[in-house]
Amino acid sequence: MSDYTVRVLRPDETREAADLFRTALLVPPLKDEEVPYAERMYQPGRALGAFDTELIGTARSFDAELTVPGGEPVPFAAVTGVGVRADRTRRGVLGRLMRAQLTELAGRGVPLAALYASEGPIYGRFGYGVATVVHDYQVERRRAVLRPEVPAGGEIELLRLDAAVERLPALYAGLPRTRSGSMTRPAYWWPGMERTARQSDTPPVTIVHHGPNGPEGYAIYRVNRKSWQDPSILEVADLRAATAEAFAGLWRYLLAVDLVDTIEAPGRPLDEPIPLLFADPRAAKVTGGGDDLWLRLVDVPAALAAREYEGEPVVLEVTDPVLTANSGRYRVGPEGVTRAEAPAQLGLGVDALAMLYFGAWAASALVTAGRIQVAGPDDAERADRLFATRPPAWCGTHF
Ligand SMILES: CC(C)(COP(=O)(O)OP(=O)(O)OC[C@H]1O[C@@H](n2cnc3c(N)ncnc32)[C@H](O)[C@@H]1OP(=O)(O)O)[C@@H](O)C(=O)NCCC(=O)NCCS
Repeated sequence: MSDYTVRVLRPDETREAADLFRTALLVPPLKDEEVPYAERMYQPGRALGAFDTELIGTARSFDAELTVPGGEPVPFAAVTGVGVRADRTRRGVLGRLMRAQLTELAGRGVPLAALYASEGPIYGRFGYGVATVVHDYQVERRRAVLRPEVPAGGEIELLRLDAAVERLPALYAGLPRTRSGSMTRPAYWWPGMERTARQSDTPPVTIVHHGPNGPEGYAIYRVNRKSWQDPSILEVADLRAATAEAFAGLWRYLLAVDLVDTIEAPGRPLDEPIPLLFADPRAAKVTGGGDDLWLRLVDVPAALAAREYEGEPVVLEVTDPVLTANSGRYRVGPEGVTRAEAPAQLGLGVDALAMLYFGAWAASALVTAGRIQVAGPDDAERADRLFATRPPAWCGTHF
């Protein structure tokens, strides 16, 4: 169906687009005082709108960088603000927006796109795959006695909201982003965080850990309790620690907040040693988790060449139904990535390639699930070694 057009939104259409997206996500429209935040979040030229008689769907992105295995920061489009009006869904509007966005990104030579998905079935058809996976932790605070070996930690500084808003961007930028999946937080990201913090009935508390060389990490948390009779839950909205001292120091502080029954730390990296801090490791439980960042290789050869590999090369036959120039055979190995004539050892869609890219899923697991076809008995294991990534990839920056 093509009785609508897709075009880049003008800056004066930001509020309408933001409200359409928020309504689609079941969030109330912007209040007047929230509009300036939205205006700072929309990167000019990066928001698309679908129109029939009026705006019926949107998708936008902002420019950022994503660390790939090997440690290189690679430009990517952080895709967000995706929504279609309820009375115009399931007639291909999202498909048109996604194809227009991907075509524009490919035209500008952007190697990667990534997003957080509201629902699992939406984005695979456009070539996105689950690229990082997280654990949600719950800690019973009174049971969580620290083991004697846990580092003492340094000084903790508490920041009021205004100070946190001012200092967090530089603090975040100053911490290492060597882990695959880590992203920069550009100026288009922070206003969303500030708006949420300022609009909240329980504004978050920010704590900064200082070591011998300055700030080494921070945590942002809020305590939720409906009434004095209800259990109180401290929710860790963000925690970044560059050193073991900082990790221990921040957790020491969080555990020392009296009257708290439970600490919830959602969306943490798979290898974070939270249970290992405690004399009783069962004081911390994994209560959930799942997909974190969904990745899309927009320029397959450039994206493949940007990361490092170990082991022997493998020839991949990649299929990309949306950006068809990506389809073809690639020889991928520690010496580099080239287009290949040799027969392929692995056949896969560009969405499955995204699942391999950060090492979140082993090739052999994708073979088991029928998402990769292999030519020979050893090929999956070879690809397992080639794409393996340590430590596990993690983004942890919602957008
Ligand atoms: C998700 C959403 C944007 C889809 O928009 P849409 O215009 O209905 O999508 P399309 O018609 O282009 O759908 C393309 C395909 O995806 C499928 N699809 C789309 N959304 C889906 C969903 N939520 N669950 C399952 N399948 C979905 C469609 O059935 C269609 O499949 P087909 O090509 O085999 O027929 C829209 O439903 C929406 O705004 N949802 C609420 C907000 C939201 O979740 N936004 C995403 C934020 S990350």
